[in-house]
Amino acid sequence: MRGRALLMVFLLSLMYVVCGARLGSERQKLEIEKHLNRLNKKPVKSIESPDGDIIDCVHISHQPAFDHPYLKDHKILTRPEYHPEGLFDDNKVSVKPKERTNPINQLWHLNGKCPEGTIPIRRTKKDDVLRASSVKRYGKKKHRSIPIPQPKSADPDLINESGHQHAIAYVEGDKYYGAKATINVWEPKIQQPNEFSLSQLWILGGSFGQDLNSIEAGWQVSPDLYGDNNTRLFTYWTSDAYQATGCYNLLCSGFIQINGDIAMGASISPISAYRNSQYDISILVWKDPTEGHWWMQFGSEHVLGYWPSFLFSYLADSASMIEWGGEVVNSEADGHHTSTQMGSGHFPEEGFGKSSYFRNIQVVDGSNNLKAPKGIGTFTEQSNCYDVQTGSNGDWGHYFYYGGPGKSPNCP
Ligand SMILES: *[C@@H]1O[C@H](CO)[C@@H](O)[C@H](O)[C@H]1NC(C)=O
Ligand SMILES: *[C@@H]1O[C@H](CO)[C@@H](O)[C@H](O)[C@H]1NC(C)=O
Repeated sequence: MRGRALLMVFLLSLMYVVCGARLGSERQKLEIEKHLNRLNKKPVKSIESPDGDIIDCVHISHQPAFDHPYLKDHKILTRPEYHPEGLFDDNKVSVKPKERTNPINQLWHLNGKCPEGTIPIRRTKKDDVLRASSVKRYGKKKHRSIPIPQPKSADPDLINESGHQHAIAYVEGDKYYGAKATINVWEPKIQQPNEFSLSQLWILGGSFGQDLNSIEAGWQVSPDLYGDNNTRLFTYWTSDAYQATGCYNLLCSGFIQINGDIAMGASISPISAYRNSQYDISILVWKDPTEGHWWMQFGSEHVLGYWPSFLFSYLADSASMIEWGGEVVNSEADGHHTSTQMGSGHFPEEGFGKSSYFRNIQVVDGSNNLKAPKGIGTFTEQSNCYDVQTGSNGDWGHYFYYGGPGKSPNCP
């Protein structure tokens, strides 16, 4: 009798577990579908990219930004009121033939263009969301990435603990209204799918506590986010240190895109090769003094769009720090090191054509002028794994080489 009762209890709990799991997965499926419907707006036209992406051309007024309650009645600005002065200076520079670099494109351009009045948005697929730790976290940085480099105030243990490794140049101690850089583009190797390697600029405001404001843009390789090892153009923003607000690209409402040619999150092509052709992208982010919005420009002609001022607290006024450089995630425990590469995977000493660079790094000052940054500092957790070296000359202005191979005899 006792045995039977026990068996009954066992069977009942088994049923409960099985049904519960099925209900859970049904619920998850519904949740994913709802999320995909929210993210993927009805396209006017869709373009299949050679890398497997689908680029949806979405009517400009149907983009994700307008899901934001504060943007319901927002009138889209068609262009910034002001461009920082000195913007086109680097076009006048005569580059030595040895250091000639090439223009760059997005891979999906091979298969079509978006019609007038629409913007290209990389379609989110079910698999993209399934790779995330949860539907809610999809498109967001993990909490543990909070200690982004905090060169002076940082608790070194905390920096190392986070598993994130940087090699960056930075300026602080002034009010900044924008930043610019021309960034060499590579396709670093990623050891594990949950790691990433990126090269970007950071526009930072606030303390490095819970209220950090950040606008970020550059290129990244992130198997978790995109499902492949391609180098992709990306942006990120947060107004609470990567907690509740913000996301990559257009994966939440916030950024308002006005450009019909460039898709955020789409693959960049071609990529630089060791001792061979070099490619770079220019990124400029600046605060328009009239409306206070933060604008972004890609290359010399593509104004991508803007982050409305109300998204931010500190950055609604100005930035207190600018950083440029590389970041990787090291997922190895116990002081061991990943072989995930930063930049080209080669150290700064190797120089042009071998090591990755940022050139013409500039900041925007209170009078809306682009200026050489003053008092550039550098930071890296472990220079034997990933390093950075700054310099300046007439052709490249302020520049630096950065990166490294990760795991090596010098970086066990
Ligand atoms: C991080 O850890 C490594 C190895 O334990 C150490 O050599 C390095 O100095 C640490 N970096 C910082 C910024 O504390
Ligand atoms: C990405 O690269 C890693 C190793 O570098 C490889 O194991 C993996 O299969 C690649 N993933 C894709 C989707 O190509």
